[in-house]
Amino acid sequence: MTWRRWKILKDGCHVTTSTLISPECRLQTMIISIANQKGGCGKTTTAINLSTYLVLKGKRVLLIDLDPQGAATEGLGIDMWSLEKTIYDVMIEKANIPDVAATTVIQGLDLAPSNLNLSGAEMELANAMAREYILKNKLANLSYDYILIDSSPSLGLLTINSLTACDMLLIPLQCEYYALAGMSQLLKVVEMVGAKLGNNPKCKVLLTMYDARTTLSKQIADRVRAYFKDEVFRTIIPRNVKLAEAPSFGKPIHLYDPSSAGAIAYQELAEEVLNAQ
Ligand SMILES: Nc1ncnc2c1ncn2[C@@H]1O[C@H](COP(=O)(O)OP(=O)(O)OP(=O)(O)O)[C@@H](O)[C@H]1O
Ligand SMILES: [Mg+2]
Repeated sequence: MTWRRWKILKDGCHVTTSTLISPECRLQTMIISIANQKGGCGKTTTAINLSTYLVLKGKRVLLIDLDPQGAATEGLGIDMWSLEKTIYDVMIEKANIPDVAATTVIQGLDLAPSNLNLSGAEMELANAMAREYILKNKLANLSYDYILIDSSPSLGLLTINSLTACDMLLIPLQCEYYALAGMSQLLKVVEMVGAKLGNNPKCKVLLTMYDARTTLSKQIADRVRAYFKDEVFRTIIPRNVKLAEAPSFGKPIHLYDPSSAGAIAYQELAEEVLNAQ
């Protein structure tokens, strides 16, 4: 293995700041899967902006776009059709993460991008050996502090791969009436992953699109907190138009409007994630 750039850790152990490191020197990487089969609940918005603020707090972060819609890829200003290799090539085991990882508008934030090609992966992997652990294996020995995975709104094989790979499952929950309806299905899959596939991630719910003007948002938030207790982040993401506008400029909220309520909330979330370790 060739080492590119070197830095010295506190304990004197040399590691590279390129993406591959020797197993003895492996940094503690926290892998966070952002998943909920309910569409449009804020998974991608959370993936982009939490990643950004973790980087701004000095962490080295890889964001994996595991959704064929490629929204995280586009939201970080990368044209998903200009890509030669994507996470699809990783999932069908024709490439490794360093082969596909791209730099982004946020220095220190790498992205394993996606496009529609990924939609074929589930079928192609149907008979693959250990098909639920492909992503987990591909994420071993990478030199990131945090790896975030933006999952698609489904509970198919790609999402199972993200659940078997992660240390934490972050579940964005939109503060609206039907938000809790799909949760039991997701939690059943999480249980199945624990019992059959041997991974029991810490689960944390994130309340999103909170509208302080409505009593409904407050009622949903209260119910969720009463039920999930400490498994709910203290930070609440407000409904904020700036968060919805930023992706169309290919920018995280930090570059689009850093003083907006959405930006401040995601900054607080990053602090909470850092303190949760
Ligand atoms: N806090 C927010 N305030 C206002 N708009 C938001 C907020 N969070 C997300 N949005 C907008 O809501 C829509 C859905 O958000 P997002 O794409 O993050 O959800 P998702 O769960 O990733 O969706 P999908 O299930 O399709 O992948 C997007 O247009 C996004 O810009
Ligand atoms: Mg999404």
